[in-house]
Parts: sequence; structure tokens; C-alpha cells
Amino acid sequence: MNEIESSRPVALVTGASGGIGEAICRHLIDNGYRVVASARNQARLQALAQALGDRLHPLLLDVTDAAATRSLGSVLPAEFRNPCVLINNAGHDVGGRRFFEQGSADQWCDIIETNVQGMIRLTHALIGGMLARGSGHIVNMGSIAALKPYATGSAYVSSKYAVHGFSETLRLDYAGRGIRVTEIMPGLVRSGFAEQRLGDALQAQEFYDSFEQCLEPEDVARTVVFALQQPAQVEIAQLVVLPVSGQVL
Ligand SMILES: NC(=O)c1ccc[n+]([C@@H]2O[C@H](COP(=O)([O-])OP(=O)(O)OC[C@H]3O[C@@H](n4cnc5c(N)ncnc54)[C@H](OP(=O)(O)O)[C@@H]3O)[C@@H](O)[C@H]2O)c1
Repeated sequence: MNEIESSRPVALVTGASGGIGEAICRHLIDNGYRVVASARNQARLQALAQALGDRLHPLLLDVTDAAATRSLGSVLPAEFRNPCVLINNAGHDVGGRRFFEQGSADQWCDIIETNVQGMIRLTHALIGGMLARGSGHIVNMGSIAALKPYATGSAYVSSKYAVHGFSETLRLDYAGRGIRVTEIMPGLVRSGFAEQRLGDALQAQEFYDSFEQCLEPEDVARTVVFALQQPAQVEIAQLVVLPVSGQVL
């Protein structure tokens, strides 16, 4: 790797195999980063690596896998080690949009394990290196659901309240120590999210089509880059991103 390449900052993105995470990877590479793109779907990660070239390293990683997240550092190639940016984006609402008693306890818990515990595990795996270097930026993908809860979203809404609490607390823990923490709170985004939740592509399309307007994944990706590009003394603590129609969820 030449000198210019090795000076590019490294970002690790979870949930990079589609939707918002994939768009974030594209925008980060366009803005001079090298990117570790992680998720569970190997085929989609490989396709992304082919499309985006050597500056993207695909990494098979289930954020609920405690051992895999702990040993993250040792599996990354040297040029992608020590990310200075972590984008905690992996998340889902599989089994959601049901009244609490109608959903499965295992599915409710899996939402928490992915959206909350996954974020905590990844952050824990990388924070030591960031602190040792005296700089780092953690971006957590929250949701407008943490500001406007809705019926039938018990686990998902709870998970995004937890993203909010974690982001706020982490920012206090590391105030003055070179670590910035940003929480992004999007409204409705047209992505693979509804298909994951409903398990049906057609129903997912009908769900999105039932709203006047949705955000696109790129709209959220641009806000992430905006937060990262601020001067070192500026911390974008929270960004709420909504479609102009005012659509929430
Ligand atoms: N779409 C919306 O309206 C909306 C609104 C506000 C916030 N958000 C948040 O935005 C984030 C991204 O969602 P999206 O809309 O882009 O949905 P998406 O298209 O379904 O993407 C979700 C990503 O998360 C990954 N993922 C799920 N479980 C995982 C696990 N256990 N380990 C690793 N990766 C996992 C998926 O990859 P694999 O299946 O390959 O692992 C996929 O890449 C989520 O945190 C979501 O809560 C979405």
C-alpha cells in the first residue's frame, strides 16, 4: 500500500450488506475512507467489494456473536486494523409490528440482541484502540422511534431508546478524551428493513408505497458523512432526519 492509501482513515460499518449500511460504505469511500464492511450475508458483501474495489474489506460478522466481536482486531488485515470510525448500523425488527403478546419472545429478544447488545459489543471491541490513540468517532444508528414510540413496536422502540441512552452516556464517559459520539435518528427509509420484518418482498413494497414519501438510504448516508467531516472540536450529538412530508414511521 502506498503512502497516500495508508493515510486514509479506516471506518468499520456494521449491517453493510444492504440499505443504509451499504449506502454509508459507498459515501465513505467517495469521501476518502477505507472501509471494513461487515454483515452476515457473504454474497452481498462480496458483490459490494467487487463494486467498490480495494478500499473496501468485506467482513463476515454477526454482531450477536460475542466471541467473533471480541476477536475482531485479530481477523482484520493490517491495512484495515484500528478503525478510527465505527458505524453501529446493524439492526432489524424481525417479527415486529405486532402487539406484544402476539409476537414471539425469542424474536423480541433477538431484536434487542442485535440492535443493542451488538452495538455494545462492537463498541467495546474498538474503544480501547480509540482511547489509546486519543481519537475516534462512534456513530450509532438510532431512530425517530426513540422520540415517537408507536404501538406494535415494543422491542424495536425499546432498542432505539437504548441506542439513545447508550449514545448519551458514552458521550459523557469520553468527554474531553478525543472520542466523538453521534446518534442518527432517521424516519422512514425505503430499504430492506420492511422485507426483513415482514418476510415478504411484495408486502414490504406495499408498506413503503402506503406512505406519501420515504427517505432513501443515501439521504441517511450523507448525514453520517456530514457528522464525520466536522472539525475535531465539533461533535454532532444527534441528527433527526425525516422525509419532507413529515412522515415518521
Ligand atoms: N429503514 C428504516 O425506516 C429505518 C429507520 C430508522 C432507523 N433504521 C435503522 O437503520 C439501520 C439499518 O437498517 P436498514 O433500513 O438499512 O435495513 P436493512 O436494509 O434491512 O439493513 C439491515 C442491515 O443489518 C444487518 N444485520 C441484521 N442483523 C445483523 C446481525 N445480527 N449481525 C450483523 N448484521 C446484521 C443486515 O445484514 P445481514 O442480514 O447480511 O447480516 C443488513 O445489512 C438499522 O439499525 C435500523 O434500525 C432504519
